[in-house]
Amino acid sequence: MDEGSFSRVGVVGLGTMGAGIAEVLARGGLAVVGIEVNQDALERGRGHLEGSTGRAVKRGRLTEDAQREILGRVALSTDFADLGDCDLVIEAVPERLDLKRKVFAELDRVCRDDAVLATNTSSLSVTDIAVTTGRPTKIVGVHFFNPAPVMKLVEVIATVLTEPDAVARVAALVKGLGKTPVTIGDRAGFVANRLLFGYLNQAAGMLESGHATRDDIDAAMKAGAGLPMGPFTLMDLIGLDTCLEVLDAIYAESRDRRHAASPVLRELVTAGLLGRKTGRGFYSYDASGETEGAADEGAPPVVGIVGVGPLADALAALCDRAGAQVR
Ligand code: CAA
Repeated sequence: MDEGSFSRVGVVGLGTMGAGIAEVLARGGLAVVGIEVNQDALERGRGHLEGSTGRAVKRGRLTEDAQREILGRVALSTDFADLGDCDLVIEAVPERLDLKRKVFAELDRVCRDDAVLATNTSSLSVTDIAVTTGRPTKIVGVHFFNPAPVMKLVEVIATVLTEPDAVARVAALVKGLGKTPVTIGDRAGFVANRLLFGYLNQAAGMLESGHATRDDIDAAMKAGAGLPMGPFTLMDLIGLDTCLEVLDAIYAESRDRRHAASPVLRELVTAGLLGRKTGRGFYSYDASGETEGAADEGAPPVVGIVGVGPLADALAALCDRAGAQVR
């Protein structure tokens, strides 16, 4: 089977992840049907799609014609019946099992019998979703990473019930979209989150215990470990509610204290401070999404150097070049 075995793909839920997935599919030349619960949510989804492709146009990565073509491939609707002729539907609604089961019951009803149904869940069991449908052999997980248009990895999850052909077709589709598929079984955290969240949670624990500041931990991992973002910037990007859900799910399976969510994370989620999407998490963001009050903003830092000699001179020159005030 090749990626050409799917030509019309539905996406249910057009939040950050769903809209990103719809964009990836449309960029890959597929006809996409995007579904949301109501007109307001649909307009927000349209906004995500226009914003993300618009950013690519501004950066000179996409022509306006190509943007129009991509957006033209995405049909938006609030009616599940419009998914009737899709070969594959990817669900990306909020991470609640009752909600996902409801969506899958509806998909089961409106989709062709041979259609493959996929969930983008990052914390729920794909098997739990599959067993409530009338077609458990055709249920897979397709786990994209945030931001979906940028991140290359897509985890393709097979339950013990999934037919191998459905998994192979979805993995081929992912590859055809220019992404890297990794095919795995249904275990909490799959591969990437199982490893990543032990680290993110430990960063939150280090902040909690006063081991280092938010900015210093972020700076250390960015400058010292070559990561594109420090752990707090990344958690804010992922969404602290999602981080907590992922950690709770992994902990429920692993019982490993590395995955026992740090209290500060739970506290922020309870307070509704969910990261970028709510304007505040570990950092605060202005309306354009820029970070406010991070360490590298505002007045230059003042560095005092005690002592004289070549080393002190070299240090002073280094700090001066980095924009610090040297005393
Ligand atoms: N949508 C579309 N494109 C985006 C984007 C978005 N939300 N954010 C950034 N981009 C694009 C930019 O347009 C830019 O594209 P070009 O190079 O083609 O011009 C490129 O990404 C780089 O963006 P920026 O220059 O603005 O910023 P950056 O260099 O700091 O990169 C980043 C931003 C790609 C997000 C980068 O910081 C990064 O890779 N961070 C780590 C992200 C990560 O680890 N994600 C996984 C989280 S775990 C997860 O998602 C799983 C889960 O289940 C929770």
